Amino acid sequence: MDKITVSTLRKKKEARQRIVALTCYDAATARLIDAAGVDVALVGDSLANTRLGYPNTLPVTMEEMLHHVRASARGVTSSLLIADMPFLSYEAAPWQAAIAAGRFIKEGNAVAVKLEGGRRVEASVRAILNANVPVMGHLGLTPQSVNREGGYRVQGRFPKDARELLADAKRLEKLGVFSIVLEGVPATLGRRISRALKIPTIGIGAGSGCDGQILVLDDLLGISESTPKFAAKYADLRRPMTSAVRRFAADVRAGKFPDDAHSYK
Ligand code: KIV
Repeated sequence: MDKITVSTLRKKKEARQRIVALTCYDAATARLIDAAGVDVALVGDSLANTRLGYPNTLPVTMEEMLHHVRASARGVTSSLLIADMPFLSYEAAPWQAAIAAGRFIKEGNAVAVKLEGGRRVEASVRAILNANVPVMGHLGLTPQSVNREGGYRVQGRFPKDARELLADAKRLEKLGVFSIVLEGVPATLGRRISRALKIPTIGIGAGSGCDGQILVLDDLLGISESTPKFAAKYADLRRPMTSAVRRFAADVRAGKFPDDAHSYK
């Protein structure tokens, strides 16, 4: 498969070809989704919950993200590798945002970064783009706003909120972002925003009218302890994985493992 670039995504939208995106967190998961032909490999800050055991995405640091972005880059050959900017790496000052984004490219071998928010983070988006780093936006339910919102809530249900989200999306497009993740918005709004933009939208809990779809890999594989309503399980690996570990433990305790077939002569 040819290497996917930010312009491939734009061309896919123009050709009405849907874009496939998934999260990955290390070389093994990146290799898996790359080999399956996934267009976009996002090292999401969902790393915080899925792999690092934090209660939400807020505590994950730049250094932790960089470690996993570097590892994921070693597993990718064709997919477009995007690094998620962690909480407080881009909101406070545009120059800090540009340096943090640049580190994902220079030290992490990512091709682009993603960050949450619309006009609120406009100055940071501009600074990152000025540093020649492609930016993916993220609007709607933005998990890094969990404390401000008092939880994870579907966004844009009221006409005023929907208008603001559409305005944010148009503003981000005008600034030069190459794509926008739309998370947790009504399907009708997902479609409306996608139709209003030339750049592709990638939906997660935003209905079928988006130009592409993304899921957290652990939700898709059925490894997560709990999954949101919008996340379809394409496998249910948690149970067979736990059962395999239990059977191993029982065999070791019973002296059945290792047997001759798993021993050297
Ligand atoms: O962190 C993440 O995994 C994400 C996506 C699922 C969009 O931001």
